[in-house]
Amino acid sequence: MPIKIGIIGHTGKVGTALQSALKNDLQCSFIKGVNSQANLEDYFALFDSSSVVIDFSLPSKLDRKLQVATDLQKPLVMGTTGFSENQKNLILETSSKIPIFYSSNFSLGMFFFQKMLKAIKEVDWFDSIDLIEWHKAAKKDSPSGTALHILKEINKYTNRETHISSIRAGEVFCEHTLFFSSDNERVTLKHEAYDRAVYAKGAIAAAKFLIGKPAGMYSMEDLLTTQEKCTK
Ligand SMILES: NC(=O)c1ccc[n+]([C@@H]2O[C@H](COP(=O)([O-])OP(=O)(O)OC[C@H]3O[C@@H](n4cnc5c(N)ncnc54)[C@H](OP(=O)(O)O)[C@@H]3O)[C@@H](O)[C@H]2O)c1
Repeated sequence: MPIKIGIIGHTGKVGTALQSALKNDLQCSFIKGVNSQANLEDYFALFDSSSVVIDFSLPSKLDRKLQVATDLQKPLVMGTTGFSENQKNLILETSSKIPIFYSSNFSLGMFFFQKMLKAIKEVDWFDSIDLIEWHKAAKKDSPSGTALHILKEINKYTNRETHISSIRAGEVFCEHTLFFSSDNERVTLKHEAYDRAVYAKGAIAAAKFLIGKPAGMYSMEDLLTTQEKCTK
């Protein structure tokens, strides 16, 4: 029996990419979606009919989705960004009751990018670190969730301050560029996502991963280090 996937934000750009990806997936099928018009009853119907729910929407109504997921004991994959610290704490608290998979960036390329940051600990030769993130004009949160996550990762390896600049223009999907600079040389690390299919693919892999998992907070690290091998 296919894994029944419900989507919060199914009418959005990532929600649409998710539905396209699910059409070609033999293990999963799209069962139901809700958008900004949904009421409490719609949320209950969504979670009730789904094996797992994937959320790519906005931070508003977080309490509602977490409460219904907990009441019906359903796993939740979250890709929405822009949460406040209080909301992040609420997500963490809820993960003691249901399995939650959160990632501010579901692309494999960004996971690889973040893995490369470990080198900072070994060779701390630079004088400054700057991060430029470029997203489409319509993106609501700034800096991006991915930029904040990169900052957190960098802080694990160095005390140096990282300066973040955000650009919101055009329809560039997603671009993060890190500059490591000293007086006479510079290293640039850049990730570009050209298609939302990369997020859809990662989120669907996360949904499959969550089936049968106990309550807890899961991340790309869990997904990509548990799978035998993750390739394109
Ligand atoms: N983690 C990742 O890898 C990743 C990658 C890309 C984007 N994102 C994040 O994913 C989110 C969605 O991005 P997008 O580009 O798809 O945005 P979008 O095109 O603006 O779509 C947003 C979707 O959410 C729905 N929505 C808005 N408020 C809602 C609410 N309170 N309850 C339920 N649904 C609601 C919208 O419904 P209507 O159609 O009714 O307005 C629409 O379906 C953003 O937070 C973005 O930063 C994350």
